Amino acid sequence: MSGIYQNILDVIGHTPVVRLQRVIDDSPHEFYAKVEYFNPGGSVKDRIAMALIEGAEKRGELKPGGTIIEATSGNTGLGLALVAAVKGYKCIFVMPDKISDEKRAILRAYGARVVITPTAVEPEDPRSYLSVAKKLVAETPNCFHTNQYHNPDNMNLHYRKTGPEIWEQMKGQIDVFVAGAGTGGTISGCGRYLREKKPDIRIVCADPVGSILYDLFYHKKIVDPPKSYKVEGVGEDMLPDNVQLEVMTDFERVSDEESFAMTRRLIAEEALCVGPSSAMALVGAIKFSQKLKKPSKILVIFPDSGRSYLSKAFNDQWMTDNGFLKGKDLKTAFNRIMSADDLYAEMGWSF
Ligand SMILES: Cc1ncc(COP(=O)(O)O)c(C=O)c1O
Repeated sequence: MSGIYQNILDVIGHTPVVRLQRVIDDSPHEFYAKVEYFNPGGSVKDRIAMALIEGAEKRGELKPGGTIIEATSGNTGLGLALVAAVKGYKCIFVMPDKISDEKRAILRAYGARVVITPTAVEPEDPRSYLSVAKKLVAETPNCFHTNQYHNPDNMNLHYRKTGPEIWEQMKGQIDVFVAGAGTGGTISGCGRYLREKKPDIRIVCADPVGSILYDLFYHKKIVDPPKSYKVEGVGEDMLPDNVQLEVMTDFERVSDEESFAMTRRLIAEEALCVGPSSAMALVGAIKFSQKLKKPSKILVIFPDSGRSYLSKAFNDQWMTDNGFLKGKDLKTAFNRIMSADDLYAEMGWSF
């Protein structure tokens, strides 16, 4: 039955690569985006959700009717919730409080239990999202902690599937691969595969200002203490096993202000409604490209959809309150949603 999928999980992967045209100002390089919001749960994390659950089933660590527990910034939770719904598992997700309302709401819609934890505490604090997840795992019968930060099934999935997919789509014509690192699975897995195929490829990690990964890569220790920042899902205040620094060749730091401004440009100029971590990766790619001597083909991972950030990146009030919508960016401020009465008043029409 060609053209028909047996269930929604079979739709995961094979996302499109799109050339970026208008947001790239005057560059000798070609920029491409792998647009992961085409996955059924709307992010790159659908890919690893399948791998994490099937790995646990194979090892006998997840039994029928069991509960999946994860500390997640939202996207992995949604991927896991999709797989859990199709396979009949329950889910509990622990999320930091900076995660958008849209992400919390969609997880509840899939039937998951959601626990919100404070962002502004140390990872070792008993209220941190990793600590709360650990406690739940210890006390929930018949549960499996998917453990996306340290479980090698995450990175290995990207090595087996996403890396080869990129290589085939680009027909081997790729000089630079750029992604952010949250768990590190995407960049470590794809990066390892792509370096095996093309040893001189550059694997560039775009890292938010405030994350410690940049310092660990260049200085082998933390120079600037971790700070909170607004871009979700990328950067770290600890080193997950799935962040394999030896796979990466370069790092670029990107500020919140740069990421949120580019999020607005991507929807306005490329019609790509993506989340701020996609924009962050692209800003990192553009910064890195300025150091390249030869015209190069640069592929950037766009992990998720802007629909999860309507109350943040696409809300003028939130952007203004956070200082991300200053004078020069106002051209990308949105049109006001107005009532018919307001329109009549503005146009000087009468009823
Ligand atoms: C929005 C978003 N972007 C990027 C990433 C980073 O992907 P990875 O965990 O594979 O490093 C994540 C991970 O949670 C994410 O949620």
